[in-house]
Amino acid sequence: MNIAFISDLHVDAGSFGMEAVRLMPDLLAELHPDVFIIAGDVSADSIEIEDVLSRFDPIDCHKLFVPGNHDIWVPNLPGQSSKEKYEQILPEIVQKTGFHYLPSRPVVIRGIGFAGSIGWYDYSFRNKAFDNKISMADYKQKRYRSRIWSDARFAKWGMTDEDVTETLAAQLADDLDNLQDADVPIVAVIHHLPFEEAVIRTGQLIFDFFGAYMGSERFGEIIKARANVQMVICGHTHTQRDVKIDSIRILVSPLGYEHERPQGVAETLKESLRTVQV
Ligand SMILES: [Fe+2]
Repeated sequence: MNIAFISDLHVDAGSFGMEAVRLMPDLLAELHPDVFIIAGDVSADSIEIEDVLSRFDPIDCHKLFVPGNHDIWVPNLPGQSSKEKYEQILPEIVQKTGFHYLPSRPVVIRGIGFAGSIGWYDYSFRNKAFDNKISMADYKQKRYRSRIWSDARFAKWGMTDEDVTETLAAQLADDLDNLQDADVPIVAVIHHLPFEEAVIRTGQLIFDFFGAYMGSERFGEIIKARANVQMVICGHTHTQRDVKIDSIRILVSPLGYEHERPQGVAETLKESLRTVQV
């Protein structure tokens, strides 16, 4: 099976992402994928997510979507809920475009099982070397000195990050168990990183402060405990990753932001729209 995948299009961060989206259907058609996966962070605007996903309508393959943290952002107004966006609003929008919303339920495609989650973080991936400088209260507030992790403003789950992580990890565990029962090889799609080995460290603040928000070891534990999981496709970090943890291959292939990609949109896209055989 030929799987094409990408993440972190960030079309609401400037024209770069949407330029890539315009180029992508033709490039994707040349790759002849059986499955195409977008692993999160398209836009905070649901209408824009619908617009982006609709552009892949001419591509005749199975299409899977998992949202990222930016996709569940809501305006800072009373009554706005990321939980509602994740569980109700996004599934409706995504299904309309012909993509399958993987967090709603796993699927088996030509004998391969796919399960997905946004993933989340519980600060287990913080650089513990800085525990004498950065308190747990800093991590919970998502602020250190003048820097802020923007989920602090726009991700509104109505529960602690630890509880979000536990809830979503339990949902993913159930979905993986269903696929284990079906005795199929499994590809998991998780926006945040499930293994610390995939987190980039510099040993420097402020960069490593943000490592706390890269993912959680809970997802990695759940994956490792299920023998059929062969591969995990992630997003979130704007650096290509291809690492093996035991027998599990972890892949990340983000588009990222324009300022991170001096080679321009066409070259970036050629590198970022990856394929892998399962
Ligand atoms: Fe992200």
